[in-house]
Amino acid sequence: MRKHHIAFDFLVFDNINELSAEDKSLMKVAVESRKNAYAPYSNFCVGAAVLLENGELVIGNNQENASYPSGLCAERVAVFQAGAKYPGVAIIAIAISAASKNYVVDRPAAPCGNCRQSLSEYELRQRRPINLLLMGEKGEVFKCPSIADMLPLGFNNSYLK
Ligand code: THU
Repeated sequence: MRKHHIAFDFLVFDNINELSAEDKSLMKVAVESRKNAYAPYSNFCVGAAVLLENGELVIGNNQENASYPSGLCAERVAVFQAGAKYPGVAIIAIAISAASKNYVVDRPAAPCGNCRQSLSEYELRQRRPINLLLMGEKGEVFKCPSIADMLPLGFNNSYLK
């Protein structure tokens, strides 16, 4: 029997103003896109902004549905749109901002498991890590170096032979 330990490092910034100019402007785009979220059921609005290798920005926000599982998270709306519009162009980073109509979200919200799996597919395909920037509507910002770190022991296409 062997024991394995998995850990990862990420950066914690006190607030958005501590970020580099590039990261800050990407997060600002996520904040703006959050405002167009369609979240009448949860009142939890999420915005995502994807920066591509070719300099293009692609946005997403959560789109809910009266049949709850038919809705989609902001992160997947964004990366699927990026994949559809710019196939084969690597994703450098994704910024995510969450806010609620019911309370002040003052801490980062990390992507759900389904979004981690979807993001992981793009990261593996492009063989280059995707940076994640996570924020609520204010407060600390987490910068995580890769999706792989956030989805340890993830399933991938190497199992599909
Ligand atoms: N949501 C996202 O958009 N991203 C996440 O990573 C977590 C959750 C959305 C889905 C749903 O519309 C609302 O937040 C509440 O779960």
